[in-house]
Amino acid sequence: MNGITLSDGIELVDSGGVIEIHLDRADKKNALTATMYRTMSATLAEASSRADVDVVLIAGKGDAFCAGNDIKDFLSGPERGTEAFDFIRAIAMFDKPIVAAVQGMAVGVGTTMLFHCDLVYAAPNARFVMPFVNLGIVPEAASSLLAPATMGHAKAAAMLLLGEPMDAEGADKAGMVTAIVPADQLLDHARAKAIALTTKPPQALAHTRRLLKGDPAVIAARIEEEGRLFRETMQSAEAREAFTAFFEKRAPVFRRAGAN
Ligand code: COA
Repeated sequence: MNGITLSDGIELVDSGGVIEIHLDRADKKNALTATMYRTMSATLAEASSRADVDVVLIAGKGDAFCAGNDIKDFLSGPERGTEAFDFIRAIAMFDKPIVAAVQGMAVGVGTTMLFHCDLVYAAPNARFVMPFVNLGIVPEAASSLLAPATMGHAKAAAMLLLGEPMDAEGADKAGMVTAIVPADQLLDHARAKAIALTTKPPQALAHTRRLLKGDPAVIAARIEEEGRLFRETMQSAEAREAFTAFFEKRAPVFRRAGAN
């Protein structure tokens, strides 16, 4: 393929060397549906198998990068999140460089997918949140391993235990992003870096990336362990209350065992 493909919630731009995945559901802050996950997983599989593709670029349209799983879709799907886990495995095991351009909110998988990217450029208004505990669930995409490895336990704990957001400057300092780029130059900058990667010697680049990424078996094992707990906690009363509260636009109320 070559050119632009539009599917439900995703725009793909294929220039040969670089495939761009644009999250294209701005009215829902690019929250990811099962269909969008499927398209992204299929695109990564294609990018991996095609010799003419060197790099994948991920960006979001509108004022947010990605609001995470589409909560409604996630809760109502017949197999609750299978597509999301397939995507997480696909991006974690992907074997070519990924460049990301992040503006506005990056929530849940909107942040955790970035741990599997290589070059992450952020607009000054980027805001990273991993609110899993607040939703009564647990981290995914090996973020429980990769967040502390990237930024240290204390910073990761503020994000993963308290669910505190991190702004672009904090993320830059914490090593989560490669650089902060003015919003109006963000996509062009990320594209230029993706193209720069296409000019590198492919074998040396592939080896170096693999070495940088660490042991894939360790990452895969953590994804599975998190996945088991994620599915378990998704069934909990805590999660039900958190998701209901989101759609009722109110603060959730969590009750502790033994409390009145
Ligand atoms: N799933 C489903 N719908 C979502 C969504 C999600 N993850 N995130 C946003 N939306 C929808 C909202 O329901 C709203 O829809 P509506 O216009 O039909 O009411 C629309 O997108 C705009 O969102 P809104 O909350 O009004 O925008 P905002 O700028 O005030 O806030 C966010 C943006 C991202 C901070 C906020 O939407 C949010 O917290 N979303 C949930 C994030 C989340 O918990 N994701 C799951 C992680 S596992």
